Amino acid sequence: MKKERILSGIRATSKLHIGNYLGALKQFVEIQNNGEAQCYFFIADLHALTTPFEPKELRKHTLEVVAEYIAAGLDPKKSVIFLQNQVHEHSELAWVFECITPLGELERMTQFKDKAQQHKTNINAGLLCYPALMSADILLYKPNKVPVGDDQTQHIELSRIIARKFNKQFGQVFPEPKNYLLKPLRIMSLADPTKKMSKSDPKSCLFIDDEPNTIREKIKKAVTATDGTGKSAGAENLLGLLAHFGSHAHIEHFNDMQQMGTLKFSELKEALATDIAEHFAEFREKKKELLARPEYLAEVLGEGARKAREVARETLREVKEKIGLL
Ligand code: ADP
Ligand code: TRP
Repeated sequence: MKKERILSGIRATSKLHIGNYLGALKQFVEIQNNGEAQCYFFIADLHALTTPFEPKELRKHTLEVVAEYIAAGLDPKKSVIFLQNQVHEHSELAWVFECITPLGELERMTQFKDKAQQHKTNINAGLLCYPALMSADILLYKPNKVPVGDDQTQHIELSRIIARKFNKQFGQVFPEPKNYLLKPLRIMSLADPTKKMSKSDPKSCLFIDDEPNTIREKIKKAVTATDGTGKSAGAENLLGLLAHFGSHAHIEHFNDMQQMGTLKFSELKEALATDIAEHFAEFREKKKELLARPEYLAEVLGEGARKAREVARETLREVKEKIGLL
């Protein structure tokens, strides 16, 4: 039986934080390891150009994310790992999609509205066309499923609309990708636990490669103040993290303390910092080793792009034929 094809990506706007890890990367690794699908995981470096960026930083972050993918368990022998910009078909198909996507569809995207609000002085055409490029990323590979967080479901829906529109206008090329929601999970900001942890606010983040001292300092400073109802969103967030990374004994102990109303934040923070530092010890080493071998990373990406292109080229050929490009 033919294996299902799965594809997903993460933007290269920063190295990854534990929200990205739990919400996306860890689940990518699980999908890969259950062995039932042919997996394509890429780094959306072209999408990173839609919000303000520094060339040097972009290069650095991209390599870091590649190393993080592998250090977290994505295996280039099992999954195709590549950079979006190294498979030119993505940009080419995006242009075709931009020419069949009504402006109104792009303007109604909530991510566009949010980002336009956030970057008022840089509302560029790329930000608006982001979902057309994302649709190209997806449809080039004709995947069965695209695992993403709930904030991306509107973009996946648009990729189905674009596929349908293309097929109707020019003839059948694209199957419509099915919804595949990653386990809903929202890790909150350390600085403001009412907001999600986000790369766009580094103060909010615990990066997965943070060193033990940094982890300890950041968690120590994490806001745990109670709100008007006597609840603490910050404490909930830390207990949530403990549930993922804590030792069995710590999880039980601190949940009991919370139920009895005797939870001491300082103790919880200390235990959580120790457990997170321990959990990612191997990851940190592996990431460092990988970054020290840029030639190996280049080889993985070269091989990944080659395999991705085999599929992407064929789809683009079909598209060109249907739309009359010679
Ligand atoms: P960010 O908001 O930090 O820039 P992205 O939008 O690039 O992150 O998200 C990359 C992936 O990580 C997405 O699949 C998203 O759903 C997931 N993700 C991002 N932030 C969090 C978070 N705080 N909690 C859980 N998952 C998250
Ligand atoms: N927009 C996605 C995000 O912010 C990243 C992305 C770009 C993506 N192209 C994609 C995800 C194609 C899945 C499929 O997380």
